[in-house]
Amino acid sequence: MTKLFDRRVALSAFFTLGPAALLLLGLAAAGRVAAWLVAAALLAAVAIGLLAAALTAKATARQAQGLTLAARELRSGRRPASLLIEEHGPLHHAARELVSAAQSLLAELAALAEQRDEFEAILRGMTEAVVVTAASGEVMLLNDAARRMFALNSQTDYRGHNLVELCRDPAVQRFIGAAIAHSGPDVLSTEFDVNISGPRHLRASAAPLARNNDRKPWSVLVFHDLTQLKAYESLRTDFIANLTHEIRTPLTALRGYAETLLKGVDDVATQRRFLSIIGRQSDRLARLIDDLVELSDLERGFAPLRIQQVRPERLAEEAIELVRDRAQKAGIELQVRCDQGLPAVMADYDRMNQVMINLLDNALKYTPRGGEVVAEARNSMQAGQVGVELIVRDTGEGIPAEHLPRLTERFYRVDRARSRELGGTGLGLAIVKHIVQLHQGRVTITSQVHEGTTVTVWLPAVAGVAAAARQEA
Ligand SMILES: Nc1ncnc2c1ncn2[C@@H]1O[C@H](COP(=O)(O)OP(=O)(O)OP(=O)(O)O)[C@@H](O)[C@H]1O
Ligand SMILES: [Mg+2]
Repeated sequence: MTKLFDRRVALSAFFTLGPAALLLLGLAAAGRVAAWLVAAALLAAVAIGLLAAALTAKATARQAQGLTLAARELRSGRRPASLLIEEHGPLHHAARELVSAAQSLLAELAALAEQRDEFEAILRGMTEAVVVTAASGEVMLLNDAARRMFALNSQTDYRGHNLVELCRDPAVQRFIGAAIAHSGPDVLSTEFDVNISGPRHLRASAAPLARNNDRKPWSVLVFHDLTQLKAYESLRTDFIANLTHEIRTPLTALRGYAETLLKGVDDVATQRRFLSIIGRQSDRLARLIDDLVELSDLERGFAPLRIQQVRPERLAEEAIELVRDRAQKAGIELQVRCDQGLPAVMADYDRMNQVMINLLDNALKYTPRGGEVVAEARNSMQAGQVGVELIVRDTGEGIPAEHLPRLTERFYRVDRARSRELGGTGLGLAIVKHIVQLHQGRVTITSQVHEGTTVTVWLPAVAGVAAAARQEA
């Protein structure tokens, strides 16, 4: 580049000095000027020309070097700091153009980088799994949720892998196949069950990602995990079905006996029996509604706890006293066992008393005459946290293992007819679980058929609950 400019300077010197030299030579030939003078003038002109050429070449070289450095900096994405623009330099215009082009280019690059960052943040924050594939099914982009959904490694770069190979579930593979084959501009959308680290229900959609006309479109695949939503939906449907059933049973009895009585029953003893059934069924309905309201208040946080320091022994002993008469009538022996030096718990006494009564009520209901029911309060450390266990143990009929995980669900009963016969609504343990959870505690149930059942309520000791209560306040 420098050489090119050298030549240009030499040429311009030649074209300016050339005619002057010719003029001088002409004058010398005409004898008007002495030959030595002409030679001196020519020498001086050549020297001046060469000096000018050298100076210009140096300036040009300096600016050319500046331009080269600037181009290098531009290539690495930096604003070209080293580009000096000399007002009258030979490359003045080119440099100015370059600076302005560089500035707009850099601004555009910065805007693009910002857009890319925003896009990546959106992708990262999405709960839906997003995968972009090329027309061949090759992965071009995949967000964190997709890695989690398809149990993929969080570090591996999966670009270039075929999505069908990354996800082996047949339903997902069928969908990917359909998405790749799908050529229309509309969005392909479907729902299916999969088994990827457990059963799940997915909603998947595929939209074409148009690229340059000559290239086949890519596909944007979005997978939405609806498993939890489906579970809630089925819980809600089950709840309504159960509720309807629970209400219908006493209502049918009420209507039936009332109608019979209205038609006229002469026998007073029968009348009394019918009326007592009506009374019992009305009580049952009222209890069902009370329990439901209670449960709903607990779930929605409408039942604030009146937290105070409570001695665990008091919870065990007073609850036992409240059921003593009943146990005596049922021929069941009652026991209380409490560890020495138990720490206090921060609890709502009435609520925790309700928990103990519920558990003792179950124990008495499902333990035959001659059995034993024990209420215990024990020291217990769980996951490094000091706490207390309140235990209700019976020697009753026990619960088959397959029912244990569902016992705290609303209306869940091992033997529906039996529980109903005993006046149960199937909401007792659901209420227990909610109250205990509000106290930051846990409920566990273990049981052996024909041997008995043990329900353990773990509550954190004062320090733990006090902190939790402060947080809530
Ligand atoms: N100690 C126990 N022994 C045997 N089965 C039990 C025991 N405790 C609970 N169960 C079983 O768990 C089911 C659910 O108990 P839960 O207390 O929620 O309902 P319930 O006692 O039937 O009705 P409610 O408590 O509303 O009066 C019971 O129906 C019963 O089948
Ligand atoms: Mg119960």
